[in-house]
Amino acid sequence: MNRTRCDHTPAWGQLQTAFEATGRAFDARAAFATDSKRFDAFSQSAPHVFADLSKNLIDQPTEALLLDLARQTGVEAHRDAMFNGDAINVTEGRQVMHWLLRNPAIAPVEQAQPAITNVSNDLVQVHATLDAMLAFAEQMRADEAITDVVNIGIGGSDLGPQMAVVALDEFVTPGKRFHFVSNVDGHELAAVLRKVKPESTLFLVASKTFTTIETMTNAQSAKAWFSRQGGTDIARHFAALTTNVAAANAFGITTTFGFWDWVGGRYSVWSAIGLPLAIAIGAAGFREFLAGAHDMDAHFRSAPLAQNLPVRLGLLDVWYRNFHGFTSRSVAPYHSALKRYPAYLQQLEMESNGKRVDVLGQALPFATSPVVWGEPGTNGQHAYFQMLHQGTDVVPVEFVAVKHPKHSLDGHHTLLLANVVAQAQALMLGKADAGGHKHFTGNRPSTFLLLDELNPTSLGALIALQEHRVFVSGSLWGINSFDQWGVELGKVLAKDVEKRLVNGDAAGLDGSTAGLLARLRG
Ligand code: F6P
Repeated sequence: MNRTRCDHTPAWGQLQTAFEATGRAFDARAAFATDSKRFDAFSQSAPHVFADLSKNLIDQPTEALLLDLARQTGVEAHRDAMFNGDAINVTEGRQVMHWLLRNPAIAPVEQAQPAITNVSNDLVQVHATLDAMLAFAEQMRADEAITDVVNIGIGGSDLGPQMAVVALDEFVTPGKRFHFVSNVDGHELAAVLRKVKPESTLFLVASKTFTTIETMTNAQSAKAWFSRQGGTDIARHFAALTTNVAAANAFGITTTFGFWDWVGGRYSVWSAIGLPLAIAIGAAGFREFLAGAHDMDAHFRSAPLAQNLPVRLGLLDVWYRNFHGFTSRSVAPYHSALKRYPAYLQQLEMESNGKRVDVLGQALPFATSPVVWGEPGTNGQHAYFQMLHQGTDVVPVEFVAVKHPKHSLDGHHTLLLANVVAQAQALMLGKADAGGHKHFTGNRPSTFLLLDELNPTSLGALIALQEHRVFVSGSLWGINSFDQWGVELGKVLAKDVEKRLVNGDAAGLDGSTAGLLARLRG
């Protein structure tokens, strides 16, 4: 398909002109003062998520130009190509079909869902695997002898399931503990092994490729520990979640749940990689998680661009990165259970869009992925919010709030909600009546995402929303959001350094690396 890079469109130049004319000096406070309907124009409902975009540095003419930019780059055709099963991951020659993992088995006609005939065979396989995995999850939930589930995986094989299990803690079945081991640093695995017993532990070795060195090292050590402790029944105590079932078998694991090369690692929580979550919240809960995401897929596929939330968020990201020049976005979930959400988003966005060349390999003359970072509120307020309010850089903030809590402790939730609203308000309004150290410039942009409740459905929708907004900005930038060549060099060099650490050979190394090696071996 033909994609047009954002800087090759007429809208790009028009946006530059608009930025110089009104964008750079735009003041959200003045915009509210002159437009009583601003909140309505810049807020919207999407499935399971309400979004207030009105505190952002944008007016309607600018949003109209950004929508032109989206149309001129061909983002709709690109989106449709993904949903058509085209191999849009061109550098790896792969389809991009994580969305199919949450597609109902037989899509009801009344959902007016575009045909999925091209991928109907894949959908049959998806549901056969899903049913088997969920049956296993139910079996493990019912098995009182299994008290601990240890997920061994890294990157997408860790961050997605971990983020979701922690987020949905209120829905987790009592009597089971969940542990996540990702780091090759043996301290992490050793600390978990101190807490568990072989007869009551299920190890899940999660690796799309089944070659990732950290995961293979941890899995080997877990298996050796299991044998040393007298464990014998590997088939009962180890399962592999992978596209490389042959390698899992060769490793000695016979209980396997597969998926496909068209699921990117950071998009894999919906696949067998989601097994820890399925054990935690049950088959019905996992299906709700998929259904919430599917609702967001349907919105992304069919809502007009001007009312399409992933599109509006992705366009804002481009506006901030390429015109305002903001280098980062802070995410502030006001729910303690969303504590791994910022880490999850870091991989999703920075591994997808941290690219310096376009799909054709041409160097880009503009910036791409922002740095994504954050912590749950209110904790962040007592750490880095000082910088957000009074620092020299403007950092757009994306708040997430949840209307109804799952606890009944008096006063807490009102206080939490008061804080998230007040932070957004303070960033925008500032405080001009005090000088010097007590002055807040204000006009600092934020987006406010609101869920009615944090549950499997809304979490699924929120994560799919984030996947699609990353798709939109990546699409406009003309990059391939679905490869990750940037992680390869370090992997190759680590193998070489590992050998040198053992044999002391520093020949041909740069001075710093040689110096560090000598120090580590001394
Ligand atoms: O090194 C990056 C990466 O390939 C991620 O994209 C992926 O999520 C992670 O490693 C783990 O890979 P695997 O699931 O194949 O072990």
